[in-house]
Amino acid sequence: MQHFNIAVDGPAGAGKSTIARAVASRLGLIYVDTGAMYRAMALYLLREKVLPSQEAGVLAACEKARVTIRYEDGIQKVILNGEDVSGLIRTEEVGETASIISGYVPVREKLVELQRQLARDADVIMDGRDIASCVLPDAQVKIYLTASVRVRAERRFKELKERGGDCDLAKIEKDIQERDYRDMHREHSPLIQVKEAVLVDTSDLDIPQTIGRIITIAREHGFTPREEGEGPDWK
Ligand code: DC
Repeated sequence: MQHFNIAVDGPAGAGKSTIARAVASRLGLIYVDTGAMYRAMALYLLREKVLPSQEAGVLAACEKARVTIRYEDGIQKVILNGEDVSGLIRTEEVGETASIISGYVPVREKLVELQRQLARDADVIMDGRDIASCVLPDAQVKIYLTASVRVRAERRFKELKERGGDCDLAKIEKDIQERDYRDMHREHSPLIQVKEAVLVDTSDLDIPQTIGRIITIAREHGFTPREEGEGPDWK
């Protein structure tokens, strides 16, 4: 049976995971967060004190890092060598390291294989940087989700403030610009908007509006809910 796949690509801080998670629950799809897999790999390197800039060291260490995914009540858990690290990968340091090591081909190949397997097994909405261009080029729906650098920085600032953190808007904006540049200009599988992708700019949209927009696009591209009980066992 051909599964229905939605690919969502876009820069850091565009709200991909919040939106994709909500769309998954509304449409009965599995949400696959591919950034979490690169982050788990990055966490391993940080723990092993391997410098992300040193490719040979990174590749040797990655041989020993086994990243897998498990679903608990429909929520994705990222497992690193048997340990659930889902709660440890959301820091700026891990995100930066993930952005650097995701430029190495063997790291990508290992994780892309896992991502394709997940999409073969179930109807998924998968978010990342190279989902439409590389991982799932045959996805029925391709979305490019973005927002201006300023809006993304303000959202991040608000989020950090709410968590009680000490932060500086100008620094956050600069970090976002640097991360965008690296993700869009790397040699292998850079972040691009493929020509069939529908552009959704969330600079002036709130979360419910964005979710509604993506659900409409999915329906326009042939999404129909499956019968109850047709989902995979592991959902
Ligand atoms: O989406 P995120 O911030 O969790 O991703 C962290 C980094 O991982 C991102 O800066 C680039 C990399 N990444 C990637 O190269 N390809 C993906 N499909 C997902 C993430």
